[in-house]
Amino acid sequence: MQSHHTRSEHRQSLVSNRNYKIWGQTISQLAKTPRKLEKPRAEYSDLEIAGFVLQEHRDDVVRLWEAFTTAREDVARYLMDPKRESMVYLLGFHLANQARLSAVLDRAEFRHKLLSQLSAADAVHLLDLGCGSGALSLLTAQELWSYREQLDITWEMVDKSQSFLDMAALGIKLLKEDAKPVLRRQKLDEFLSREVAAGPKDGLVWYQLGYVWNEVSRHAKTTQLLLRLLGSGLQKGQRVITILEPASQDLAREAMELRDRLVEMGYKMLYPCPHSQGCPMLESKRDWCYSEAVWDRPPLVKKVDRILKIDRARIGVSAYVFVSPDLIEDGHVKLGKEGSIVVGRPVEKASRDPLLETKSYLLCAPEVSIDKVKASRFKVELLRGQIYRDMPDIERKPKAPEGAPRPLQKPRNPGAVKRAPRGSKKSRPD
Ligand SMILES: C[S@@+](CC[C@H](N)C(=O)[O-])C[C@H]1O[C@@H](n2cnc3c(N)ncnc32)[C@H](O)[C@@H]1O
Repeated sequence: MQSHHTRSEHRQSLVSNRNYKIWGQTISQLAKTPRKLEKPRAEYSDLEIAGFVLQEHRDDVVRLWEAFTTAREDVARYLMDPKRESMVYLLGFHLANQARLSAVLDRAEFRHKLLSQLSAADAVHLLDLGCGSGALSLLTAQELWSYREQLDITWEMVDKSQSFLDMAALGIKLLKEDAKPVLRRQKLDEFLSREVAAGPKDGLVWYQLGYVWNEVSRHAKTTQLLLRLLGSGLQKGQRVITILEPASQDLAREAMELRDRLVEMGYKMLYPCPHSQGCPMLESKRDWCYSEAVWDRPPLVKKVDRILKIDRARIGVSAYVFVSPDLIEDGHVKLGKEGSIVVGRPVEKASRDPLLETKSYLLCAPEVSIDKVKASRFKVELLRGQIYRDMPDIERKPKAPEGAPRPLQKPRNPGAVKRAPRGSKKSRPD
């Protein structure tokens, strides 16, 4: 298994080859045989089959994307067929969500050695609420195992959709043959009321809340129960929470409010915030906090992007990592690098000339303030969610010394060169 003991803040291979293969296998095993195969199915690799399945579902992927980006409350209406809905989710969004979490965990590892320290635990229980295709828990397990392969990991997957649960269970089996994930086909309020009544679990529990808060935040009963579960977990100790939400202004602000409720409760922030006080960005309605990452998209993610006519080489996510304070006090998690965090990259138009635009960073400082610093155009750009530091200059090609022969340039219009009469001075177009 791959090891990342010197993880940096910007690893671009956010999704491993193994993970990509498991994704392809899951699609190949769960999807109907695509119609347009030219050879027997057995002669294709899983990823090739996944490519055909994606081609067949391209319109559905576009529809689900439109529902996610324009009217999230309509998601259920767009795809009424649960099997198809889960397959389309897996095809279009599973890997990108894993990449988002991977970037966040890289940064939590870089700053506080979160994964390497937690991987020393006896066992970790991943409790995935609204697990969908299991993207977040599959990724978290692989990341923890990359530090200690023997770590005992158990999964508890909760979702109202059986198709999603079957998908998540298959992914887990493909990752670890003898895993026995607990699958709970329940609405979250049903699950949560039983869980709260049963009292907090023993041991290290990692709650995953991936793109589910925006689906339940308007249900008072579900949100109250969720907060009670997280509150009783906090009292018990040994708790980690990851929250991922869309990076759009309104949903990101809802996630910021949830973040504030959890720190008020007593959870400690490990990512992205440099403190566990109230969020200063909530004071201005115009501000919202989210993280960005740049990644090497696997080929079929690039294909999804072509279908959607978007480029997800740079991804955004409103993401948070919390721990119960006992994990820090007892030395399981030692707080590491601190500094101001990039939370915005405003551009001020000083003039119509883009060269005169002033760029700056908005920084969230450990002293609980939002500060602005000027950013040089000639420096490598920092992403939202990264620690602010002096960056190297953008590499620029050295200028040729005076008098040196100019390198041959590719003609911009080769036809023009061909048509130029022989011996003409204009052998190269301007
Ligand atoms: C947008 S998906 C996110 C899946 C996954 N957590 C991820 O990050 O990729 C939301 C999931 O939550 C489930 N879900 C939404 N509301 C739910 C509820 N009230 N009870 C149980 N599951 C719910 C949906 O079935 C779906 O699988």
